[in-house]
Amino acid sequence: MKDVASLSREEAKVELARLAKVLHSADKAYFQEDAPERTDADYDSLKRRNAEIEQRFPDLKRYDSPSEQVGSAPSEGFQKVRHSIPMLSLENAFDESDVTEFDRSIRKFLGMSDDDPLAYTAEPKIDGLSLSLRYEDGQLVHAATRGDGTIGEDVTANALTIKDIPARIKSAPALLEVRGEVYMSHEDFSALNARQAEQDDKTFANPRNAAAGSLRQLDSRITAKRPLRFFAYAWGTVSEALADTQEGAINRLKGFGFATNPLMTLCNGTSDVVAHYRRIEEMRATLNYDIDGVVYKVNDLGLQTRLGFRTTTPRWAVAHKFPAELAWTQLDVIDIQVGRTGALSPVARLRPVTVGGVVVSNATLHNEDYIAGHDASGGKIRDGKDIRAGDWVQIYRAGDVIPKVADVDLSKRPKGAKPYEFPEECPVCGSPAIREEGDAVRRCTGGLVCRAQAVEKLKHFVSRGAFDIEGLGAKQVEDFHCRGWIAELADIFLLEERDRASEKRLKDQEGWGDKSADKLFLAINERKRIDFHRFLFSLGIRHLGEAAAKDLARHFNDWSPLAAAAIDAAKEPAMDDASQAALDGSPAWKEFLSIDGVGRTLVRSLVLTMDQEAERDSIERLAKHLEIVPPDVQSSDSPVAGKAIVFTGTLSRMTRNEAKARAEALGARVSGSVSAKTDLVVAGPGAGSKVKKATELGVETIDEDDWLALIGDA
Ligand code: IVH
Repeated sequence: MKDVASLSREEAKVELARLAKVLHSADKAYFQEDAPERTDADYDSLKRRNAEIEQRFPDLKRYDSPSEQVGSAPSEGFQKVRHSIPMLSLENAFDESDVTEFDRSIRKFLGMSDDDPLAYTAEPKIDGLSLSLRYEDGQLVHAATRGDGTIGEDVTANALTIKDIPARIKSAPALLEVRGEVYMSHEDFSALNARQAEQDDKTFANPRNAAAGSLRQLDSRITAKRPLRFFAYAWGTVSEALADTQEGAINRLKGFGFATNPLMTLCNGTSDVVAHYRRIEEMRATLNYDIDGVVYKVNDLGLQTRLGFRTTTPRWAVAHKFPAELAWTQLDVIDIQVGRTGALSPVARLRPVTVGGVVVSNATLHNEDYIAGHDASGGKIRDGKDIRAGDWVQIYRAGDVIPKVADVDLSKRPKGAKPYEFPEECPVCGSPAIREEGDAVRRCTGGLVCRAQAVEKLKHFVSRGAFDIEGLGAKQVEDFHCRGWIAELADIFLLEERDRASEKRLKDQEGWGDKSADKLFLAINERKRIDFHRFLFSLGIRHLGEAAAKDLARHFNDWSPLAAAAIDAAKEPAMDDASQAALDGSPAWKEFLSIDGVGRTLVRSLVLTMDQEAERDSIERLAKHLEIVPPDVQSSDSPVAGKAIVFTGTLSRMTRNEAKARAEALGARVSGSVSAKTDLVVAGPGAGSKVKKATELGVETIDEDDWLALIGDA
């Protein structure tokens, strides 16, 4: 064998291809067939040779490089992978009326009547974790977890240890992303836990946790020993259409060698769908894997395309969930937590109890009315029974949500148990806690003086959907805040400077070292470039969730126009007398309210935040450190991308909602009113004042046919 140092570029390339083949085959024999074909020493030396060549010629490193594959030594963390199409979640339906509403909204969106046939597939919702598999020319090149939906973790080496996932597929499209669920069967789960217990290793609460823990192993040799399974149920990018229907596409995936769920059925309309739900519900206990509902998908892929997506969920699918699981336990005490917006949230501390396979020791109690047994308008909750320390309570858990209290057993109430007195002062800073009229929640008035609020704000800032800075989690920000290193958000980006100028270096603190401190500063610097919607979400403004942040980001494209619009909206004289009708009519409010997904409560909260000088200055201090990246205009090659569009009059080929959704999917912003900022008005028959205004302002107006031609749908 030629010495690595003397290999020519061409020879290196050939040698890397040979090593990839040999090592892949050795991996397969070792991990999948349990029949090693080489000695460990031989295997290691080939692997080392491969790494040395890659080091000499980094650009020749193959996409299927063995150094990234099964059997590789644990690395420090997973590579991040950006999904070419985001991995979305599903809207939930909890009862039949939600299912009927799902069907009705689809028909409305598409302009279909109640009698038009509409077929759905119905299949179990697997309780595991989703995975996206990218095949190029039939070869698996990437397997990525869902992550935050946009960026996941590269777990290719681990995915290759799963028998249901082929490393190579035949006669597939040149590019194919297969999506589905990784799970662990009941038997394998019990056997794994027994083995773990025997070896004094940690056991898992349920098969889902076991599957997640196993797939996210840095050492794929461990994953290889865990029997994971996979069901394919969806796809991402494909170079050619798989079929015309959902059912057809899944059958194609099955043909490529993927495991698909045998309980998927084609149904006609909602009654058929619900009948299948009942059948699956009855079979649930006999299945060898966990499911938590039934997923319905519009079968016609042409209709799926027309329906498209909301910010985080498709319009064409819904998850009909099974009822939540219940368990009784005793409530020890009621604690109060103070959140980032000052809300005092009561939490029930419980004697640990297993609910649906998970040990629960806390449950949310929402607010003081809820504890007292009524809602804000005086209606009874739990038949009016209040909750007291020492009570026996029934806990329920639906999916991943925080457990809640369903009922109280008054017959077991301890003698002398007193009604709970909700504090009127913040338990953290002692400021008065006030309940404003119409608000169910009592809030600490301490603002940034309140340590709890400041810390929670910082924790939110570094959380997953926000800045998500590696090495800077809840624990670290709490610690840094305590030390006086970070008081407000902007201080995070001054940490390194502080560190250099100070005698108290981070690297000298307990739990830190040279390497971890440098890594943290690097991670912070990397986050100075931040997507606009993440920046918005990270501010921790009340009512501004991830979905609304995306909607706002898409509409305003950048921070300064949004801030300017909020400040304009705050200046409306009607803000003071709170006359909503007057506000609705003002141009600044109109602009906000024209955005799909943005409602009055959010606008008010955003506007009130921007109206406070201290808040505004604090945000500006933060923004100074950042490069805010405008949202991905998905099809930036579309002539309407980035354009402000107004639809008016009657459209004949699609409903107004569909037209709006389609335009937004192409990167356009759709507004309800014409202004100087409008780029284009699409007018159908019956259009009136908006067209007139457009003409006055010199804004181009076209009809529906021209519009369809423009976006390439004619
Ligand atoms: S379809 C575009 N089908 O449920 C949406 N999802 O709550 C594609 N899941 O993230 C998802 N079983 O991890 C689909 N048969 C099934 C599923 C399923 C489980 C998971 C999936 C998704 C989550 C949404």
